Amino acid sequence: MSTTPTAASRLLVLILCTLAISCSSGIAGFAAGDDDAFIRCLAAAAVPPRLVHTPGSASYAPTLVSSIRNLRFVTPGTPRPLAIVAAAEAGHAQAAVRCGRRHGVRVRARSGGHDYEGLSYLSLDRRERFAVLDLAALRDVRVDADRAEAWVGSGATLGELYYAVGAASRTLAFPAGVCPTVGVGGHISGGGFGTLMRRYGLAADNVLDAVLVDADGRLLNRTTMGEGLFWAIRGGGGESFGVVLSWKLRLVRVPETVTVFTIRRPRNQSATDLITKWQEISPSLPRDVILRVVVQSQHAQFESLFLGRCRRLARLMRARFPELGMTQSDCEEITWIQSTVYFAFYSSSKPLELLLDRGTEPDRYFKAKSDYVQEPIPRHAWESTWPWLEEHDAGLLILDPYGGEMARVSPAATPFPHRKGNLYNLQYYSFWFEHGAETLERHLSWVRGLYGEMEPYVSKNPRTGYVNYRDMDLGRNEIEGNVTSYTKGKVWGEKYFRGNFERLAAVKAMVDPDDFFRNEQSIPPLPAAKGWSSI
Ligand SMILES: Cc1cc2nc3c(=O)[nH]c(=O)nc-3n(C[C@H](O)[C@H](O)[C@H](O)COP(=O)(O)OP(=O)(O)OC[C@H]3O[C@@H](n4cnc5c(N)ncnc54)[C@H](O)[C@@H]3O)c2cc1C
Ligand SMILES: *[C@@H]1O[C@H](CO)[C@@H](O)[C@H](O)[C@H]1NC(C)=O
Ligand SMILES: *[C@@H]1O[C@H](CO)[C@@H](O)[C@H](O)[C@H]1NC(C)=O
Ligand SMILES: *[C@@H]1O[C@H](CO)[C@@H](O)[C@H](O)[C@H]1NC(C)=O
Repeated sequence: MSTTPTAASRLLVLILCTLAISCSSGIAGFAAGDDDAFIRCLAAAAVPPRLVHTPGSASYAPTLVSSIRNLRFVTPGTPRPLAIVAAAEAGHAQAAVRCGRRHGVRVRARSGGHDYEGLSYLSLDRRERFAVLDLAALRDVRVDADRAEAWVGSGATLGELYYAVGAASRTLAFPAGVCPTVGVGGHISGGGFGTLMRRYGLAADNVLDAVLVDADGRLLNRTTMGEGLFWAIRGGGGESFGVVLSWKLRLVRVPETVTVFTIRRPRNQSATDLITKWQEISPSLPRDVILRVVVQSQHAQFESLFLGRCRRLARLMRARFPELGMTQSDCEEITWIQSTVYFAFYSSSKPLELLLDRGTEPDRYFKAKSDYVQEPIPRHAWESTWPWLEEHDAGLLILDPYGGEMARVSPAATPFPHRKGNLYNLQYYSFWFEHGAETLERHLSWVRGLYGEMEPYVSKNPRTGYVNYRDMDLGRNEIEGNVTSYTKGKVWGEKYFRGNFERLAAVKAMVDPDDFFRNEQSIPPLPAAKGWSSI
């Protein structure tokens, strides 16, 4: 999350530049005229040329890399967009969709660029002609503290949203993810969970309205898009249904003072026992407390946010989880907005303005996978993960407990189906800094290997995962005729969405039957023969 451009990142921009030049003359199979026609169409639709970055221009590489978070997708050979349209107003996004449609150029929407597999700015199909519709500039946050509501542009980051909410009121908050540079556009589209989820659910559970550009380039809101589409965009994953330009959010109440703590227990100080016990305790704690765990190297770190004072939290921990040994001296009493800094930077004394730091360069490679755990994983299985973490210093596990509000919402209320019955989300996350094919292979096989080991203990039939922790290992779309295959899509789709996948496909068939908005894991249109009566 650093912002100072390093020598390495400058080099990276250089690599991109040379790459861009060789790409622009070498996209085999594409009629050059079509690309030009797309660009001309944008100009005719009054999109200022300075907002359209093409591979020949000096601004192309820096714009492309501006919000990329994963160095895996900056390497030479990654397929590049034929243009980046940096929308500054709704009309630009509408023009990108209309012109793209007319001239056979697909549009990949990008808000915060945090997609785990880079799908907001690359295509795994080398023949695909696509442009990135970058929404970073559409990032106004307008908070109405009296009504406890806010409109936020898709290009805003979670940090910008939190900062604006915190500035407007000491007792309002918004429940979403932990990392401040994540974009609101992709995050809410896929659900979005963080430290307030046990009290207030997902970010997507707190959406009141949205403005979206549909496949015909029309601007729709909740009233005009209809409840089927409004349901689908609140958790069905980004890209499939249209381009969300802004969300209207319900803000939630928090006390002026909240409490946080972080307790680290090494392996040789009963970390294994604590994790084993934690699995049963944390999902059934009162909903105004969350206790998550990050397991790394040879220790487990317990991190907590409580919507109340230290004394009560210490009493609660003593009663429910005495083994953790938490006492009042572990607490910090701070405001909710400070807690967002605390969870992102592990210090509550850092300035709130850090939340506004969008970052400018990717600084690491990573690969992640996720699981849902429905029965406590036995102690011996936890014991056997330590050698994995020892061998591999740059890998970690993140355990985010559900329960509370997460378990109260019906699995069909939004496309996000992982509600009651799920104890916690388990994320396997590997990151590294050295470039090279061998390092890449080693880290990929580490994540996949550990994920393989855990199979007996996690959700089954299907083995589920979280769409915002996108994982191409789960499956990839195939095109049949001229649309994405529903049957093939089910393979990955039911892992993210379970029974909601079919309804998502039915909505897709209704709003984008030609499958204009597509990527390697977008929702396919439900074939007409399958029918669907109650969208
Ligand atoms: C460091 C890090 C920390 C994270 N922490 C959390 C966390 O605490 N909790 C959590 O739930 N998740 C977390 N995530 C996952 C995050 O929620 C997803 O990666 C999310 O999709 C990112 O949104 P984005 O706008 O930044 O990404 P993008 O890469 O811009 O977009 C992601 C997907 O959505 C599509 N999309 C983007 N914008 C729009 C739009 N406006 N309309 C329609 N489709 C769009 C893109 O085409 C792409 O398919 C984290 C990710 C990272 C990298
Ligand atoms: C939604 O759009 C319609 C048509 O443009 C408009 O009349 C209506 O006021 C909008 N609704 C909201 C809540 O903004
Ligand atoms: C745990 O291991 C560390 C490092 O090896 C050591 O310094 C410490 O004394 C050990 N603690 C216990 C309780 O065994
Ligand atoms: C898709 O294919 C069908 C039949 O093969 C054809 O009728 C239809 O026009 C095609 N649609 C597009 C958008 O190309």
